[in-house]
Amino acid sequence: MSRTALIIGATGLVGNACLQLLLQTSEYRAVKALTRRALPQQHAKLTPILANFDELDKVAHELVADDVFYCLGTTIKKAGSEAAFRQIDYDYALRIAEIARQNGAQQFLLVSSLGANAQSSIFYSRVKGELETALQTYQFAGLHIFRPSILLGERHEQRTGEAIGQFVARCLNPLMLGALRKYRGIDAPTVAKTMVKCAIAAQRGVFVYESDKIQALAV
Ligand SMILES: NC(=O)c1ccc[n+]([C@@H]2O[C@H](COP(=O)([O-])OP(=O)(O)OC[C@H]3O[C@@H](n4cnc5c(N)ncnc54)[C@H](OP(=O)(O)O)[C@@H]3O)[C@@H](O)[C@H]2O)c1
Repeated sequence: MSRTALIIGATGLVGNACLQLLLQTSEYRAVKALTRRALPQQHAKLTPILANFDELDKVAHELVADDVFYCLGTTIKKAGSEAAFRQIDYDYALRIAEIARQNGAQQFLLVSSLGANAQSSIFYSRVKGELETALQTYQFAGLHIFRPSILLGERHEQRTGEAIGQFVARCLNPLMLGALRKYRGIDAPTVAKTMVKCAIAAQRGVFVYESDKIQALAV
């Protein structure tokens, strides 16, 4: 197999872990990374694509790949409002899915979130759930939806609340057994590993992986 990957969000925690794995993986001969700021890395297999995500049509002809690894996301606090969050987390994803599908992409792998649910009363979870549902209209041969619990990993930016959350998650992880396993914090590279494994396995259909399943599949 000699596939081309397109990563969205390669400067982020999960996205960067995906990028490093894909660059090392022989199943992928080329890796394209769409970002809004330059990647600090060069590699023979890597084609960086810089864009303003409000003007995706300008780079549409470059978004050609077999498999899309969608790792972009923000927080309501960072986005500044619920409307801005929705534009980033929902609108960008759908537009990229639409363009990639039109350009022949076969698989779309989405980093969603634990608790994603289109009927949720929690805005964040509702947007994630609505995105999961809307992506199904593009009829990718494989739509793989990953719902990690709190992500563990080193961030360049300061997110105090999240740092505390990571600390608490690491302490509580061993106590989360049985049905609680899906609430365990999960290392970002573990999520990336399972995403790449699922992409290579190339099963057809729509698949949802809860956090405990993501952890188990990475082994
Ligand atoms: N954090 C958690 O504990 C957690 C738990 C479950 C699910 N998730 C979800 O998992 C996904 C990945 O999370 P992560 O922690 O790996 O993300 P992250 O480290 O915050 O990275 C986010 C990525 O999205 C890009 N991005 C954000 N806003 C953008 C914008 N307006 N225009 C263009 N690019 C933009 C960032 O680019 P820049 O580097 O340029 O900012 C970065 O590449 C997200 O959808 C998140 O909601 C997170």
